Amino acid sequence: MRTVVIAGGTRGIGEALASSLTGWNVIALGSADADLTSMAETRKLIARLPDRIDALVLSAGQFSSRRIVTAEGLERSFAIVVAARYLLTEGLRPALERAPNPVIVNLCGVGGIKAGRIHWDDLQLATGYSLFTATMQGARALDLLGAGFAARFPDSPIRYVLYNPLFVDSGMHRNFGRPMRSIVGAAARLFGARPAAAAVPLRGLLESPPAAALTTLRRGDPVSLTADPRDAARLYARLAELTS
Ligand SMILES: NC(=O)c1ccc[n+]([C@@H]2O[C@H](COP(=O)([O-])OP(=O)(O)OC[C@H]3O[C@@H](n4cnc5c(N)ncnc54)[C@H](OP(=O)(O)O)[C@@H]3O)[C@@H](O)[C@H]2O)c1
Repeated sequence: MRTVVIAGGTRGIGEALASSLTGWNVIALGSADADLTSMAETRKLIARLPDRIDALVLSAGQFSSRRIVTAEGLERSFAIVVAARYLLTEGLRPALERAPNPVIVNLCGVGGIKAGRIHWDDLQLATGYSLFTATMQGARALDLLGAGFAARFPDSPIRYVLYNPLFVDSGMHRNFGRPMRSIVGAAARLFGARPAAAAVPLRGLLESPPAAALTTLRRGDPVSLTADPRDAARLYARLAELTS
């Protein structure tokens, strides 16, 4: 039986995916399993996970309209979206490489949306923090993590997928304060895809991983990714330093 680890598998898109995977050993993780804003807890979680994993889905996210700093000194959305995903990927790579056809699905990079940038001189956004700035920096960083993975491990059997589900009525609006919570919640109900529908193409990617080392998709459709390999290498170096 194949094993999938879904970080962020207890709610929203991750939960819908977890419940759609029949015939899999599904390890659906949420904040009760480990607080992924903490690098120490993320490392302990990695040590508890099986030593052979077929698929890793990175779907845990937390957003805030005000800047929150973790006990380890990271801006919280950077901690969960960038640092934790970097640690999970690095830490679970050997377990994935023991599987015959392993895949990582990372939700999400910007998937062709040219907004935001990496604030190299202030990754933790000590100045100029906003929900938009932090979210877009995170998305850009995930693009670089995806683009850099294949370059770092050219012989790895792991297929890497950056997947933007676009707008999904997942309950993500609970992250926001009022009035944004009501506005985003109402818009999601009207215009967002249902989580179960958003999970369908994701399940397909796990059942049959793509042949290419890196695949970038927006709601199932291929999109091109412009990511400078030097920026990817720079981000990996910064993350190695930050998480050491
Ligand atoms: N929904 C959209 O419209 C949309 C659009 C584009 C991209 N995305 C991306 O897709 C991913 C999933 O989105 P979603 O809308 O399904 O999210 P969601 O409904 O808010 O679910 C978030 C998941 O992350 C987990 N989580 C939150 N904080 C955590 C923490 N500190 N430690 C460990 N786990 C934690 C939650 O677990 P608990 O329930 O246990 O807290 C939950 O399982 C996110 O990365 C998001 O950025 C979503």
